[in-house]
Amino acid sequence: MSEIREISRDGGKSALSVALIGPDETRRRMVAEVLSGGQPLLVREFSAYPVNLGSAPRLPEQDYDIFIVELDSDSDAAFRLIESVCASGSGYVMAYSTQADLQLAVRFMRAGVRELFTLPLDPAEVAAALERAAQHPLAGRRATRAAGKVYVFLGSKGGCGVTTVASNFAVSLARESGRSTLLVDLVFPLGDAALNLGISPQYSVANALQDLSRLDERFLATLVAKHDSGLSVLAAPGQLTQDELSSGAVDRLLDLACRSFDQVVIDAGTRIDLMNSTLFEKSSTVYLVTQVGISELRNSNRLISRFFATWGRSLQVVLNRYTPNALLFDDAQIAKALTRPAQWMIPDDYVTARRTRNAATPIAMGHSSIAQAIRQMARAACGLPVEEEKKKGVFRFIRAIWERATASGKRTDRIA
Ligand SMILES: Nc1ncnc2c1ncn2[C@@H]1O[C@H](COP(=O)(O)OP(=O)(O)OP(=O)(O)O)[C@@H](O)[C@H]1O
Ligand SMILES: [Mg+2]
Repeated sequence: MSEIREISRDGGKSALSVALIGPDETRRRMVAEVLSGGQPLLVREFSAYPVNLGSAPRLPEQDYDIFIVELDSDSDAAFRLIESVCASGSGYVMAYSTQADLQLAVRFMRAGVRELFTLPLDPAEVAAALERAAQHPLAGRRATRAAGKVYVFLGSKGGCGVTTVASNFAVSLARESGRSTLLVDLVFPLGDAALNLGISPQYSVANALQDLSRLDERFLATLVAKHDSGLSVLAAPGQLTQDELSSGAVDRLLDLACRSFDQVVIDAGTRIDLMNSTLFEKSSTVYLVTQVGISELRNSNRLISRFFATWGRSLQVVLNRYTPNALLFDDAQIAKALTRPAQWMIPDDYVTARRTRNAATPIAMGHSSIAQAIRQMARAACGLPVEEEKKKGVFRFIRAIWERATASGKRTDRIA
């Protein structure tokens, strides 16, 4: 295969991305010129037909919305490329040729070409075709990706409570916002988010990843389980599996999830190996779940300094099993260790955690202090005002006395 030459012209972040593929430079330049005179586009030119999509250089963080392919240089290679793009639903396909040949047009339209231009191009015809493409779901993926909000829960240490917080946050988010919400358990292969919600789904992330070329929105819809709260769940595998979860596979899954759901919540466990995936783009909100312990705070400090130093409010720190006025560290010391104050505190409530686990009902469906704290996180995430709990002051006060009494061994059993 001859070398692929790329020329990019940035049309802005909201512009449609175009892969212009044509070995004949003169003809390709003619098309590029017409494209440059119209709406803002992010155009990349390829001077050879990529053998398959995987060999085509990718724009950072995305595929292409539109493919414009020359047919004349090697019509069989063009056909194979177009077939592969159309079969995977990867974009909206247009083609150009010097011949106004009906047979050629029928062959390529059958392969999935939606617009066929004859050179020299009519700029008005191209503008109208781009307009149609912009309205088409195949080309609107980047816009939908931005619309599908992503909330990633990452733990500073195993057992910090990532699954508890993520799964209950997802239930609360679905209920509070009333919008379509998907929880994806990426703790591979031993994730237990579904178990926390009391459901045992038939399918899992492993099924989604078995054949990535088959994975589309319709297939994804058949894999998710529905929880009573309205939340959709793509669980971790129920059986141990040798399969690995690569960043590329996660990108593909997330892209589809964002196209299919308004909100996507990820239980990422402690998988910092996925830090290069699109999960950790700044358009996501990352909740770093940690606890007030020496190694948990030390790990949090390392993670924040290394990966999230410039993230601002896109990174939110959640102190789980938080006990006010605990003897180990005060709030100033915690904030110093975290390099910032924690945004959220989830109370330590062993009784509720155990009871809901045994009853297989999510904490978020009850009225505990954990449910209340997670509900406020979810409300803030979807732009709703954080509720003032009427008895909050009294509750906190009683709780603080109880914690202190417990810590100093003077537990007063009358206060519970
Ligand atoms: N706020 C809390 N109060 C009391 N118990 C809690 C709280 N949060 C979590 N737990 C309990 O802590 C244990 C670990 O929680 P969880 O499974 O959510 O952690 P995790 O970070 O997902 O762990 P893993 O690393 O195994 O994935 C569970 O038994 C859970 O019920
Ligand atoms: Mg977990």
